[in-house]
Amino acid sequence: MALVCFASQKGSPGATMSALAVAAAWPNLAGRRKLLVEADPDGGVLAVRYRLGREPGLLSLVGAGRGGMSRDGLWNHTQRLPGGLPVVVAPDRPEQTTAALTASGSALGEWLQSLDDVDVIADVGRLGVSSPAIPFATSADLLLMVARPTAAQIQPGAERLATLARSTKHVGWCLIGTKPYSAEEIEEVHGIRVVGTLADDPKGATALEAGTSQHRRVRSPLVRSAASLAGAMADWLHPGAEHLDHPDSSEPDADADEPDDTSSGATESEEAAEGIAPETPLASEAS
Ligand SMILES: Nc1ncnc2c1ncn2[C@@H]1O[C@H](COP(=O)(O)OP(=O)(O)OP(=O)(O)O)[C@@H](O)[C@H]1O
Ligand SMILES: [Mg+2]
Repeated sequence: MALVCFASQKGSPGATMSALAVAAAWPNLAGRRKLLVEADPDGGVLAVRYRLGREPGLLSLVGAGRGGMSRDGLWNHTQRLPGGLPVVVAPDRPEQTTAALTASGSALGEWLQSLDDVDVIADVGRLGVSSPAIPFATSADLLLMVARPTAAQIQPGAERLATLARSTKHVGWCLIGTKPYSAEEIEEVHGIRVVGTLADDPKGATALEAGTSQHRRVRSPLVRSAASLAGAMADWLHPGAEHLDHPDSSEPDADADEPDDTSSGATESEEAAEGIAPETPLASEAS
């Protein structure tokens, strides 16, 4: 049972990218599958970006749900991103995504959270007070507020997280970069745990958006930090679960900032992450 949601409050700090990078980097665990779900009421971006069909996706999933969802049926509503990660895409039209989430977000979130062999990572977009994604997002085992560690993003995000924490099992920060404020400073001031920090890595983000070829096996700082956060969350959610990725692979190389064309010791998940598309106590470090 696992639903992890990535949200934002102010600006566009990278909620979509964080969900994508973490889902792609999610470790392969025995008896479990992983799935990325777009649930941003402002509309999905992945179908357009990666030239997937508009359907199947969120609308077909929600439509099927009216007759009662079956676990096996879930996969009929997924497509695959380059690199192989299964995704439920949302319509790019905000009206359609908003309508789907308004009608069925609560039921869908609870159902996805209850699946005992699937880890669902979702992008729920900007989670303002009137967001129709709130019932979905608050069904999560863990709701992460993505933010740059600036006063302009942390202050409003902290207020919002404090409210959301009342109706969500666990909440925390997913920071992008380490400047100007450190994770320790933010935790101390706001009393909300920093679950992970992803590297502020424009080059790595652009590569993921472009769907970098899997042949290059680049381990960008973003991919390595996403793998670290994904692994830590998976271990927290499923203590003792067997990891099927290569055993050497959980620790990122210290010198992997540059593209590496040779067999690299990257996990299969990291490679999948670079293909589009890759661990926290929940407390990871930026690269
Ligand atoms: N970790 C990162 N390091 C550097 N740049 C990033 C990172 N994550 C995302 N970006 C860049 O920030 C911009 C916004 O990213 P993204 O679309 O993921 O944000 P968002 O919070 O989902 O925005 P929106 O509110 O539009 O949904 C993009 O240009 C993306 O490449
Ligand atoms: Mg987004």
